Amino acid sequence: MGFPGDDGAGFGATFIGRGGVDRESTWPRPKRSRIMTPKDRGGASEERPVTVPGLRQMKRKGKRITMVTAYDATFARLFDDAGIDVLLVGDSLGMVVQGQTSTLPVTVDEVIYHCRAVARGTRRAHVVGDMPFLSWQVSEEEALRNAGRFLSEGGAHAVKLEGGVDAAPTIERIVHAGIPVMAHVGLTPQSVHAMGGFRVQGKTEEAAERVLEDAKAVADAGAYSLVLEGIPTDLAQRITQEVSIPTIGIGAGPHCDGQVLVCYDLLGLTPDLKPKFVKRYAEFFEQGVEAARRYRDEVRAGTFPTAEYSFGNVRKDDAPSSGLTLVPGKKAAYGPQG
Ligand code: KIV
Repeated sequence: MGFPGDDGAGFGATFIGRGGVDRESTWPRPKRSRIMTPKDRGGASEERPVTVPGLRQMKRKGKRITMVTAYDATFARLFDDAGIDVLLVGDSLGMVVQGQTSTLPVTVDEVIYHCRAVARGTRRAHVVGDMPFLSWQVSEEEALRNAGRFLSEGGAHAVKLEGGVDAAPTIERIVHAGIPVMAHVGLTPQSVHAMGGFRVQGKTEEAAERVLEDAKAVADAGAYSLVLEGIPTDLAQRITQEVSIPTIGIGAGPHCDGQVLVCYDLLGLTPDLKPKFVKRYAEFFEQGVEAARRYRDEVRAGTFPTAEYSFGNVRKDDAPSSGLTLVPGKKAAYGPQG
């Protein structure tokens, strides 16, 4: 079954798994960052919003999909400017933002709160809200109501939910309400206790068949894309060949239609955690510690702030205001004016 309205029109408009806002919002998102040119983002067409049909067309055309998690407006802007196609507001926020040991405590309200922030920081990317533990299993009615909130309150374009054969009827129900569903099979972090830990799934032939069945069931139920987490490379390749919807891998090898990483892993913000499938493209944690140390030293030494970072002295007469604002040349976004 296809996603209703999917006419293929194209762009319109870990396994340490961690498991209504509009874009012209009030967040002071400036025009495109000057450091990024359309070429940096991969060409002029990269400016067009990423849509569900567009993602399906990418699979048909053999164009790989890039997906990263994001939890706030600033990181969303960073990845959107970089031309990342999909921003997932993952329940991994429980681990990297809240400091929990699993994704299980995360609530629907919390993910929606972060979705709103991400939607405000995004112009082009497709935003997906992750349905947390027990947000869809209790009943189809509850699943549908919760899924709808991610779009109407969170500003997301789609929801993701972890589950295979068992989740298929619920996926079908949500999809029929016009809500695109990204499915997630293999290592599903919300089942960490049932799996006995964050373990690679589908390693034996029998277990691999079960993951394949899950993948086919969610695709038949109408999911428009599918995360494959923590499974052997050849199994991910087979699933990618056998389902018509795009597969997006994490710890699933290079043959998926796209890849996803937790943004804190990609940017090197998780110093104590380096799972095999994670490639760090920056060392933000080390750089942040170094910057904070320099700030600490300068404050202690009295060398920050200098006059350059200060507002001068009290005026002695009724002379007109110097027009100082917090951000030179701009109206201050917060704090005292002038
Ligand atoms: O919650 C999350 O970040 C995820 C990705 C790892 C796929 O589900």
